[in-house]
Order: sequence, then structure tokens, then C-alpha cells
Amino acid sequence: MLTREIARRKTFAIISHPDAGKTTLTEKLLLYGGAIQLAGAVKAKKARAHAVSDWMEMERERGISISTSVLQFPYKGRLLSLVDTPGHADFSEDTYRALMATDAAIMILDCAKGVETQTKKLFRVCKLRQMPIFTFVNKLDRPGRDPFELIGEVEEVLGIGVYPVTWPISAGGKFRGVYHRERKQVFLFELVAHGAEIAPMEVVSLDAPELVAALDEEGARQLREDIELIDAAGDALDRDKLARGEVTPMFFGSAITNFGLPQFLDAFIELMPPPAPRGSDKGPIAPDDDRFTAFVFKIQANMDRAHRDRIAFLRVCSGRYERGMKVHHVRLGRDIRLTNPVQFMAQERTLVEDGFAGDIIGVFDPGLFLIGDSLCSGSPVKYAPLPQFPPEQFARVIMIDPMKRKQLKKGLEQLAQEGSVQLFRPPEGREGEAILGVVGELQFDVVKHRLAAEYGVDARIERLSFSLARWVEGEPVPLAELESNLYGYGALDVHGNPVVLFKGDWQLESCQKAFPQARFVELGGSI
Ligand code: G4P
Repeated sequence: MLTREIARRKTFAIISHPDAGKTTLTEKLLLYGGAIQLAGAVKAKKARAHAVSDWMEMERERGISISTSVLQFPYKGRLLSLVDTPGHADFSEDTYRALMATDAAIMILDCAKGVETQTKKLFRVCKLRQMPIFTFVNKLDRPGRDPFELIGEVEEVLGIGVYPVTWPISAGGKFRGVYHRERKQVFLFELVAHGAEIAPMEVVSLDAPELVAALDEEGARQLREDIELIDAAGDALDRDKLARGEVTPMFFGSAITNFGLPQFLDAFIELMPPPAPRGSDKGPIAPDDDRFTAFVFKIQANMDRAHRDRIAFLRVCSGRYERGMKVHHVRLGRDIRLTNPVQFMAQERTLVEDGFAGDIIGVFDPGLFLIGDSLCSGSPVKYAPLPQFPPEQFARVIMIDPMKRKQLKKGLEQLAQEGSVQLFRPPEGREGEAILGVVGELQFDVVKHRLAAEYGVDARIERLSFSLARWVEGEPVPLAELESNLYGYGALDVHGNPVVLFKGDWQLESCQKAFPQARFVELGGSI
């Protein structure tokens, strides 16, 4: 049963440059999966950011997706979990962690723009993890680039082989659907108002008169020639290469009109390999291993204002999980009980009774978890640490009302534990306020907004001129004395590890000269 249940689970993320169509495609996944009956009911961009995967108020105000949310829904007997990755460049840290919790990625390309900057960055992470990647070329209903040219660009810029599974039937205003190369069938679609419902389609063969009627003589001839050309390459999709992220199956379509969408979704669930074994300190653990193992990849406080709760998101990596079961918290070295776990089915959270490898569950967190924590049944197993990115921008939070000191401290600590921001405290023997470090500037706005909305603290962000943070390893340095010698600002991170903040490379170099036995490392190890 374990193997069967695991095989049903498909946990993935969507990677794309903003505006390529991630929100639209997500909504259409829900439509075709039967989780919603009507997509895009509200058309305006601002209102559409209400889309079911978005939670926070600020996301709605700005129309960008800030937090990583998880959306689970059934699709043709499978259980899909879409781990949302914030599209904004500033939130890449959160995005990277989200990708660690998935087994495959869908890469969306805008057919007019091809491979864009954010796509490249996210792709690199997937490539490092050797994850299977599926490519959906979107907006075929608009004028775009030639499909052959797009294939060439993906191969050249991203260094991955491309295997087109579907092929567009004409493009722009004449886009009618797709040819499915494996099934050797043509799917012609009909427009439905705003693409809000499942679009009716007709299935014909490549030499059917319906195709000529839909396209005209010249269009039909061109299509047959294109197909001959790609078929001439002669190779079939190599599933092993797909599993290792060396080749990507490519699909064409339009998320807004739904053309080409069901062919993509069906192939995606069919071709997506089962979860691969994951590396741990005890060697790779297979998903169908009897032991329950999981790791925390995200913590989010106050997700539901009415509940004021804090949720730790776990990726179940192996075995079976049951409600109320006792598990070993490896970092704390003790057993804890997982009570009231939730899954996020479409719009609602539901209590889960059991779960299997591949699932993502949210558990109530009374302050026990940190990102990267491993949980297991049986003998302790620790998963490889998640990457922590060195912050590049720093600031102090200035309270407007000094009576709120306690709330501010609590708020900042919680945000740091969530991984939304890194917090650096003055070392022992020094007074002072904590310093915030972030990778992207927009994170400061998020902190300010969340402090006000969730902790009732009005604060001002005062930017500081540091630009690097380095963790100290090897010989200790006198943290409290660094500043007076202009060697940087010594501090402690949220786990009590020594860190030095520098204004630039020149300062790092002079500090290194003063303390030649210490190592100043860029990554803070595990988080
Ligand atoms: P994102 O989450 O990746 O940022 O993209 P999103 O789905 O919000 O789509 C960005 C814009 O592209 C939206 O237009 C959306 O309607 C449009 N779009 C998405 N898929 C397609 C497609 O297949 N064809 C065409 N022609 N457009 C598509 P917008 O003008 O910003 O918003 P709206 O006014 O349409 O709501």
C-alpha cells in the first residue's frame, strides 16, 4: 500500500519569470483537476492576485506573491501538491527552500520572451538538485517566437536537452491547439468565454480534412513539415534523463484559453518520476522506507489571522505518518507528538488523518521548529541542511512607540525563525538593538508590514551601510571589540553563531589580516 500511495503523489513547483503566466496556469490546474468550477471569474490583475494560493494582505495589495504556500488537489486519481514559489526576484531565498521540498518543476516560458532572467536563476537550483523539469511554452495565442528557435534557446542557454511532446498548431490569432507526438493525434480547441471553463476539443488525425478546414491548406502543410522535421531526429523521450533533469519534455499552449493544457497536464502526471531517495547523514533514504522521515522547509506565523497560529510545513520524505503519532525531533534530541496536522486542499485547510512520502503537511508549531529540522520515527536520521543565503542588505528597526519593546522583540524573533529575515544580536557585553539582514530589499517592507499587522508595532526601518555578512569559523575573534578597531561589526545570529557584518570587501580583508587564524565564511551552514 505504501508504494501505491507514494506513486499517487506528485509534489512540484512552478518556476518562471514574473508575468509568464504562473498564476493563470495554477488556476487552470485547479479547474482541470475539478477543485474549482470557474477560473478567472474576476479578471483584473489586482483582484486576481486573490488567487487561492496567495494569503497575505500585502500580496493582494501589490499583486505579487510573497509567501510560499502549498496547494493540494486531486487530478485524475493522483494527489498533486503545488508548492508555490514567489515570483518576485527579491524572495529567491524562500523560493530555493520551496524547491528543496519538491520532486519536479514546471518551467513556464512566455513564447514571445523565451528564457528570462528569473527563469535562469531558478533553473540553476533545479539543475543542481538534478530535478525533473517540464517546460510549458505559454501564450501561444499571442504572436511569439518560432518553436524551433525556442527549443534552441532552451538547449543553449540552460544546457538541457529538449524533447517536444506537443507541437503548436499555428500561433497567434490562428492558434487552434496542439499535435501530440506520442499519440499522433491533433487536438483542436474551441474558445470559451475568458477561458473560464474547460474548453471543448476535437481529436483528429494529422491528415484529416478537419485540420485543413481549421488551418487552411498552407497551414496544414507547414504543420506536417514541422512534424516530419522533429520526428526525423528520431529519438524517444529518455525517462532516465528526464528523471535526472538532463532532458525536458516541452509542451505548447495557452493558459488563458486552455488550448493545449489537458495534454500537458496528462503527460505531466504520467511522466513525472516518483520521488527519488533523499540524502541524509545515514545515506540515501528511499521514499518507501518503512521509517517515517520528514524535514521542515517553511515556517509561517499568523497565516490565519483568526487563529493567530504558527505553522511548520513538513515535507514527508519516507514512510507513513498518522495523526497524533510520536516522532523524534532530531535537533532537540527528544520525542514530540504531531497533533492536528493540516493539509491545504484547494481553498481550505483540512485535518489529515494520515499521510505518505511526497505529502506536504502543516503542523501546529508551539515554537519547536526551525527551518531545516529533521523529524523521524525510529533511529535518528538527519537530512542535509537547506542552503542559507548570505544577506546583502542590513537595517535597524526603530520603534515609534517605546512601550512596544516586548512585542517588537517577539515579532522579530518569530520572523527570523520563519526565515523571512536574518537577525543579528549584539554579542555578550554589548548593548544595542538587533540588526536585520535580508537578501532582497522588499523583505524590509514585508517585515515592517507584518510587525504592524501581526504584532501591533509601528516601526521605522533605518538602513545601515553594511553589505556583507560572514560567519566566523576556526579561531574565535573578539566580537565586541571589532567595531572600535574598524574591523566590522561583531554579532550573533539567531542560533548564537558568531557573525561579522562588513561594509565592503576592503573591511573583510583588513579583519582577515588582523585575525589570520579565523575563517570568514559566506554560508551560515544549516538553518
Ligand atoms: P505570473 O503569475 O507568472 O506573474 O503571470 P500571470 O498568470 O499573472 O499572467 C501575467 C499576464 O499574462 C496576465 O495579464 C495574464 O492574463 C496574461 N496571460 C497568462 N497566460 C496567458 C496566455 O496564455 N495568453 C495570453 N494572451 N495572456 C496570458 P495581465 O494583463 O497582467 O492581467 P489581466 O488583465 O489579464 O488579468
